[in-house]
Amino acid sequence: MLRLSNAISCVLVALAAAASSSASSQPFENSAIVRTIDLGGSLVHVTTTFALKALKDAVNVYTITLTEEEIFNTSWLEVNVKGKQHPLTITYSGAPAGSKFHNLDVNLETPLDAGATLNLVLETVQTHATWPWPKEAAQDEKQSLKYETSLFVLSPYNTSVQRTKLKSSSPGILSYTTPDNVQAFTLESPVTKSGATVTYGPYNNIPSSATPEFLARYQQPVVLHYNYDYPVLEVLSLKRAAEISHWGANLNIQDDIVLHNAGPQLKGHFSRLQHQTQSFYGRGAPHVLPLFTVQLPPGIRNTYYIDQIGNVSTSRLRVAPSVARGSKNTQNSIMELKPRYPIMGGWNYTYTLGWDASLGDSGSYNSKTGKYIVSVPVMTEFPGAVVNDAELSIILPEGATDVDYVAPFPALSNDVSTHVTYLDTIGRPMVTFKYKNLTNKHAKPIYVSYRVPITAHLRKPMAVATVLLTLFTFAMVARRVDLTIHKTSTKKM
Ligand SMILES: *[C@@H]1O[C@H](CO)[C@@H](O)[C@H](O)[C@H]1NC(C)=O
Ligand SMILES: *[C@@H]1O[C@H](CO)[C@@H](O)[C@H](O)[C@H]1NC(C)=O
Ligand SMILES: *[C@@H]1O[C@H](CO)[C@@H](O)[C@H](O)[C@H]1NC(C)=O
Ligand SMILES: *[C@@H]1O[C@H](CO)[C@@H](O)[C@H](O)[C@H]1NC(C)=O
Ligand SMILES: *[C@@H]1O[C@H](CO)[C@@H](O)[C@H](O)[C@H]1NC(C)=O
Repeated sequence: MLRLSNAISCVLVALAAAASSSASSQPFENSAIVRTIDLGGSLVHVTTTFALKALKDAVNVYTITLTEEEIFNTSWLEVNVKGKQHPLTITYSGAPAGSKFHNLDVNLETPLDAGATLNLVLETVQTHATWPWPKEAAQDEKQSLKYETSLFVLSPYNTSVQRTKLKSSSPGILSYTTPDNVQAFTLESPVTKSGATVTYGPYNNIPSSATPEFLARYQQPVVLHYNYDYPVLEVLSLKRAAEISHWGANLNIQDDIVLHNAGPQLKGHFSRLQHQTQSFYGRGAPHVLPLFTVQLPPGIRNTYYIDQIGNVSTSRLRVAPSVARGSKNTQNSIMELKPRYPIMGGWNYTYTLGWDASLGDSGSYNSKTGKYIVSVPVMTEFPGAVVNDAELSIILPEGATDVDYVAPFPALSNDVSTHVTYLDTIGRPMVTFKYKNLTNKHAKPIYVSYRVPITAHLRKPMAVATVLLTLFTFAMVARRVDLTIHKTSTKKM
């Protein structure tokens, strides 16, 4: 074991040596790197465009380097050729020994020849990357957050010019870091602010920066402090159960949710009067959540919204008509959820939201393979919120076999088990997926396929018939018994 790891580190050292000695034979150079960071609440969207130029023939692997903090905070990542919607394959190629950065190899699909140029767009979503500052706010105060990132986008290749723009959704940028020791890359001011945007750079003629030397010498954290006008929301826990029933052709989806307002803690007590006055003048505190809206599928029925006290009747639902599967019209139903009390910073809110939908809207039968296929979304997009812990269970019809699924991204864990409910004879197969740190980008469907043998279709009616027969017999017996008792008791009285 020890020898093996020694061997590996020898190889790494050799590779590192090869990499540094061949600095002049880099396969690419970057004409420009532009990083745009949309400062948010619990989600921060980052778009980085690499304008690259091939320096050799037939090169097809471009390496993107992320810093350690970035990779730990990144929950979703995709690389596209600019203007295309076809994500490229990325291979994680690890962190060079002793370094504080991670390499991702992007497969360009079409090899480039020397002189050819291409624009690659790296899109990431960071979670839990901001924090409220100050940590407490009174009901009538503003909310402000801090966000930290690294000054330079790293790259193993030389870069002619790079800049980073941080954009806040509201104009109040309270403070930002002025970087040190960047005279080598710019003669101008190293940072400028214009309205709600702070720009670091342009920085010129940056050598290969994915090296420990560059990091030690030039890399530095930059921190922004900005006002944020919306509540910072986290879903601490989402448990979704999707139950497929062929009997009744129904798909029931139920979400059990613990929502958390991760904004500044409320200073002092909550005053409903103050809240109402503020809302009346349209100046509701940004760190108070009075209501929120989610988009549900079209054509849903029997929607229920329950909290720990019971049915919450202060909600509004506008159901969009059910549309034919595969149709391009994807208008959703809109549900406005209004909790019984506004949710203040630091508070949790636990509720259940469920609905029925016609199975035909998301499922179909393939007569060639003899299998049913049903699509179930991993989650319903929760605007601006991260989902810390999610568990999705798909409960298949009783007796289903040959269970298979296609998932849009890997789960932390998944397994197939059996779920037994009332009127079930042999239980239903259940597929469970667990996830952490889901974002709006993860609200995608899982496709489950399965076979239901004819005997399984009959099992339910048989079970119901048996139960009914038993009830009927029991009722008859009970009635006789009851009558007898009744008679005897009246006689005695
Ligand atoms: C990259 O930049 C370094 C220093 O600025 C230079 O020595 C080297 O030749 C450059 N490499 C390429 C491939 O342009
Ligand atoms: C995200 O980044 C911030 C700032 O760099 C850091 O304090 C925090 O611990 C990171 N979160 C995770 C999960 O690594
Ligand atoms: C629950 O509240 C909704 C309004 O959101 C109402 O339409 C429905 O009838 C209520 N259900 C029950 C069982 O009270
Ligand atoms: C919110 O829920 C989390 C996890 O269940 C718990 O750790 C935390 O103490 C709760 N916060 C409040 C204010 O109840
Ligand atoms: C999810 O985020 C939390 C908090 O930022 C972090 O500690 C954890 O490592 C992340 N988990 C995964 C699997 O990304």
